[in-house]
Parts: sequence; structure tokens; C-alpha cells
Amino acid sequence: MTTSHASSSSADARPEQTALISQRKTDHINLCASGEVEFRGKGTLLDDLQLIHDALPDRHVDEVDLRTPLLGKVLKAPIVISAMTGGTDEAQDINRDLARVAEQLGLGFGLGSQRAMWLRPETARTFVVRDVAPTALVLGNIGLVQARDMTTAQVRSLVDGVGADALCVHLNPAMELIQPGGDRDFRSGLDTLRRLHAELGVPIVVKETGCGLSRRVGQSVRAVGIDAVDVSGAGGTSWVGVETRRAEKDERALGEELWDWGIPTAASVAMLADLGLQIVATGGLRTGTDVAHAVALGARAGGLAAPVLRAYKAGGYDGTVRYLEQVITAVRAITFLAGCRTAAELAKAPRVLGSRLRAFLEAVGAPESRR
Ligand SMILES: Cc1cc2nc3c(=O)[nH]c(=O)nc-3n(C[C@H](O)[C@H](O)[C@H](O)COP(=O)(O)O)c2cc1C
Repeated sequence: MTTSHASSSSADARPEQTALISQRKTDHINLCASGEVEFRGKGTLLDDLQLIHDALPDRHVDEVDLRTPLLGKVLKAPIVISAMTGGTDEAQDINRDLARVAEQLGLGFGLGSQRAMWLRPETARTFVVRDVAPTALVLGNIGLVQARDMTTAQVRSLVDGVGADALCVHLNPAMELIQPGGDRDFRSGLDTLRRLHAELGVPIVVKETGCGLSRRVGQSVRAVGIDAVDVSGAGGTSWVGVETRRAEKDERALGEELWDWGIPTAASVAMLADLGLQIVATGGLRTGTDVAHAVALGARAGGLAAPVLRAYKAGGYDGTVRYLEQVITAVRAITFLAGCRTAAELAKAPRVLGSRLRAFLEAVGAPESRR
């Protein structure tokens, strides 16, 4: 995750700063892998939806087609391994192994913030995955505040340096407020997105980092011409929580208070579903049921970050493949049992929406979308 104020050029990077970034990356991985920084009292609301069982599916389960177009490529199942890391030796191993998993299973793969690569070009190798994932959908990543302070050509060099198919521009105002030395100035965000969309030459994915995207933000993003978002909503990893665990006294108190801040992932997807966006639903997805429900609500694909990291820490490459195969098997089973032939059909499958999700839709005047 991009954090603290960026230097405007790589030449400004100082050794203390780079050591700090490396330590932060290691802290982030350890905290997220530990499971101690999940939302406490708020869930994703992905369970506030029931798909209606079809007892007469009239097809072989193997006929279910999970292929999903996303950002110019076709995934074999509607799943993205979401942005996590880069910049250290451990991050390099994680990136390369997870990208290999994505290639093997036909899933998308997101690199962590490339700010480290910008500040310290010698860490570029820790983001290089194209040689092991030649065909996978690979997403670059940079913070909006950092992108604001860079020229479009500089941002483009990060994309080209890793051969990414698209660039996630992450928004993280809540965690920055808690992080010691974090950003406080978020002006010109939309102008930056407009500029990047006009000049970058690769698709942009506007991505939150665990607090969700509102309908108003979705509409603003759409109005500047961008057509892809990752809602990364509330209910999974709390990035306020991560920074709270790393913060000093004053920021820690604020972090404890805001730990559960954000829009539940399912509510965010549902509120954006009719805006013509390609939606990735990250934030608290842990199972195939979560992925299927996110797709039913209007997402193209579900994104998973912390659970993939945990599977990797526990079982390495093979353990990660096993975990993700289990997720894919469940998505296939639910698609079948909901009477659908393709994952995309889940968006039209008969369902019951709970009162909590409906309340979000009513509050923002969004229809329940049936793509
Ligand atoms: C160790 C770790 C590092 C992360 N770093 C980034 C990052 O650099 N850029 C970003 O956009 N999101 C980052 N994220 C956020 C995830 O992509 C995701 O939006 C968030 O963790 C919620 O998903 P989850 O509940 O599946 O973890 C990171 C997540 C983890 C677990």
C-alpha cells in the first residue's frame, strides 16, 4: 500500500525513508497474515443475499462456464488475487509465486503499490512477474496522491516496467489519517484521474483499500471516462486497523475509533451495479459463496487479498493453488445450483435481498441492477 507523502522524484528517496518503507511492507504482510486486523463489528453484507435454489438444473455441472472478460483479457473464473506487495525480497517471492498461481488457474493478479519501485528503481525486480505470468491479467498499482505528484509519463513508466494490462490507482484516505506521517492532502484527486484516463494509454481501475466506493464516487469516476473500479469494501482486512497496530498513541486512539469505518463490500457493489462499470469486488471475500454473491450483485469478479496471503504462508505455492481451486469449485457449484450456465448469468438469477442491503440501495436511490 502506498503510504506517507511521496517524494516527487526517485532522486529524493533517502536511505532512512527507504528503510522505513521496507519495514512497513514487512509489518503489513505479517499483520494481514496474522488475521488480527480484520473488521471487528462490521461484515461485508455478502450474506444479506440468498440465491434461490434450482432443484432441476437440467445441465451437467461441467457445462458451467466461468470464463469472465475483464479489462481486455478473459479470466478462467471470476477471481482476482488483489494487490498486496512489492519492494522487498519477501515481497518478490510472494509476487512471483502468486502471479504463477494466477497464470496456472487463469485468474487476475494485482501487484502491490509500485511506489517503492518509483522511489528505489533497484527494487523494480520485486515487481517483475511477466516472465512467470506471460498471459495472466496483471494489474499495476499506485496511490492516487502519488500519481497526482507524478507526470503521466512517470506513471506510464511504472506500468511499462512490469508489462501491466491496467493500472489500479488506489484510494486510501482513512488509513492515511491513522498512519504516522500519512498523507493529509487529498486535493485534485478527480483531476488526476481525468488526466491519467486521458493520457496514460492503459485502462485505469479506481481501487479502494477496504473502505468501499460510494455511488457518488462511482458516478464521478464514470463521468471522467473511467469504466473500471475495485470497490475494496469493508468487512475484511481493515487498513485503518493495520495502521492502528503500527501507530503511536494519538493516532492509535483515532484508529481504534475508526477501525470499522467504511461501506460493506456488498453494499458498495450493489450501489455501483447500474453505472456501466466493470466492478471487481474485493474486501472480505473468503469463499466461493462470497465470490458468487458479489457477482450476483453486479461485480465482474471477486478479489481476494488476505486469505490468499494466509494460504500462501500456510501452504506455499501448492497450498495457494488448493485454496483457490476450492474457491473456484464453490463458485461453479453455486452457479450451477442457482440455475445458471455462466457466471455472468448470476447477475440475473432469482434472489432475495435482505433489508440491510436494500436500505443502502434506497438511501442512494440506486435500483437493484439486473445487468
Ligand atoms: C499485505 C497486504 C498489502 C496490501 N497492499 C496494497 C497495495 O499496495 N495497494 C492496494 O491497492 N491495496 C493493497 N492491499 C489491499 C487489498 O488489495 C484489499 O483491497 C484489501 O486488503 C481488502 O481485501 P481482503 O479483505 O481480501 O484483504 C493490501 C492488502 C494486504 C493484505
